[in-house]
Amino acid sequence: MSNQLNKVQELIDLRAKARLGGGQKRIDSQHKKGKYTARERIAMLLDEGSFEEFDMFLQHRCTNFGMEKESYLGDGVVTGSGTIEGRLVYVFAQDFTVFGGSLSETMALKICKVMDQAMKMGAPVIGINDSGGARIQEGVNALAGYGEIFERNILASGVVPQISAIFGPSAGGAVYSPALTDFTIMAKGSSYMFLTGPKVVKTVTGEDVSQEQLGGASVHASKSGVAHFAIDTEEDGISLIRHLLSFIPQNNMEEAPLKACEDPIDRLEDALNEVIPDNPNKPYDMYEVIGSIIDNGEFLEVHRDYAQNIIVGFARFNGMSVGIVANQPKVLAGVLDSNASRKAARFVRFCDAFNIPLVTLVDVPGFLPGTGQEYNGVIVHGAKLLYAYGEATVPKVTVTLRKAYGGAYIVMSSKHLRSDINYAWPSAEIAVMGASGAIEVLYAKEAANAEDPAAFVAQKEQEYRDAFSNPYNAARYGYVDDVIEPRNTRFRVIRALQQLATKRQINPAKKHGNLPL
Ligand code: HXC
Repeated sequence: MSNQLNKVQELIDLRAKARLGGGQKRIDSQHKKGKYTARERIAMLLDEGSFEEFDMFLQHRCTNFGMEKESYLGDGVVTGSGTIEGRLVYVFAQDFTVFGGSLSETMALKICKVMDQAMKMGAPVIGINDSGGARIQEGVNALAGYGEIFERNILASGVVPQISAIFGPSAGGAVYSPALTDFTIMAKGSSYMFLTGPKVVKTVTGEDVSQEQLGGASVHASKSGVAHFAIDTEEDGISLIRHLLSFIPQNNMEEAPLKACEDPIDRLEDALNEVIPDNPNKPYDMYEVIGSIIDNGEFLEVHRDYAQNIIVGFARFNGMSVGIVANQPKVLAGVLDSNASRKAARFVRFCDAFNIPLVTLVDVPGFLPGTGQEYNGVIVHGAKLLYAYGEATVPKVTVTLRKAYGGAYIVMSSKHLRSDINYAWPSAEIAVMGASGAIEVLYAKEAANAEDPAAFVAQKEQEYRDAFSNPYNAARYGYVDDVIEPRNTRFRVIRALQQLATKRQINPAKKHGNLPL
């Protein structure tokens, strides 16, 4: 064999060695846990044959605790670029077979390189996390590595989309990189995220808690809101990432891709003319409304299990990607509370950062009262949603279906927060509060002194309803642009979005605003 052929063979052998990561035994152990390896995950995620790997030959430089004797080509992360539906993405996947995917200085270099590259090229970054946290033997160098990654997460925020999949442990400081990204996806049963593990919890607080109870996928998807999605299998997580990206542009200078649409734009939905119950306190399902007006009923919901009194997610109107925010009358009567406000605010800000128009469907009786909410800071959390809508410059279309009361009326993309087109259904009620609350405040004394208090209150409530329980009062002032037939909502929203396609609005120059955190 010629010298050159020998060298080529050496390269082939080295590549094969690198592809084995921490070795076949550890790969088998990963499989036994029902988990895929870093390379298998990347192969599933990217278009076939599109993966271009970086830094396969990088190795750690640690010499503490005998580390000089154990080293693996590529260290504990596989990084590179590829395509998803033909669009460029950058990816890193931590390799649990190499020192438990623990983060070394070298791994941070590799991750930072793809993040820098993604920023230069204006392409999304997808991180697949499966790691025991900072590589203990490296001490402060591992911490420095995390810090370098966090800084890049921060600078990339709002410039390129960042998606985190958690397919294994993510403990300690490792949780902060996902938390800084736009979407976190957790695998049920095999992933967990927490700052301090069950042992430390037990020592410090005496609380007995399992890994799953402390930071499993279901917990973070329903209780803390740390995870936007909890999925059953890694395959589901991977296809979710691909689906999610289809609604999102490559970066903040581009628009989301248009999808060819066969769903007629003027499709009438007669059922919507009868969806609102006669009794104003009776709920209906907002999912039915969403499903019937968007293209093909295809809705990708975000934070499905968290703060279910508000619904957020991606859909398309005539092929255009939009973010939908909708109160859900079926849960807590669609009231706004701290968690719902935070959930919706984050979603609105994502859409605004990435030029995705907002369609808001309103049926909100107000903010949830009580000490629980007030002590929890509902004022500040509600202000987040107010702020998010008020600063958003993307096209904003609002449809008020039924209630829009009080502060919640203003918050939910009202005209006063620069919403571009506001429609109302004939069933809309836009007022400071509901009839019974209002009459109690206005006529408490008169009602007490009335000959027939019940009849007096009923008469006053009717007067109030006649005055305010309709959309025409708001329309008279121009706060509602038009009152529309419910069955025609799809067409009207599409036409509004078409009109707004060239919208340009610029906020006052500033370093940055001071979002009420
Ligand atoms: C070095 C590590 C490691 C780490 C795991 N390994 N975590 N090596 N540094 N942090 C190694 C193990 O020694 C083992 O090596 C291999 O990875 C697999 O680990 P196992 O324990 O055998 O696997 P498993 O039973 O599945 O348990 C996984 C685990 C556990 C739950 C993640 O390894 C664990 O608790 N690790 C430590 C977690 C932790 O406390 N990390 C530090 C967090 S503090 P061999 O050679 O046997 O295969 C932190 C601060 C960052 O991250 C702050 C930044 C701001």
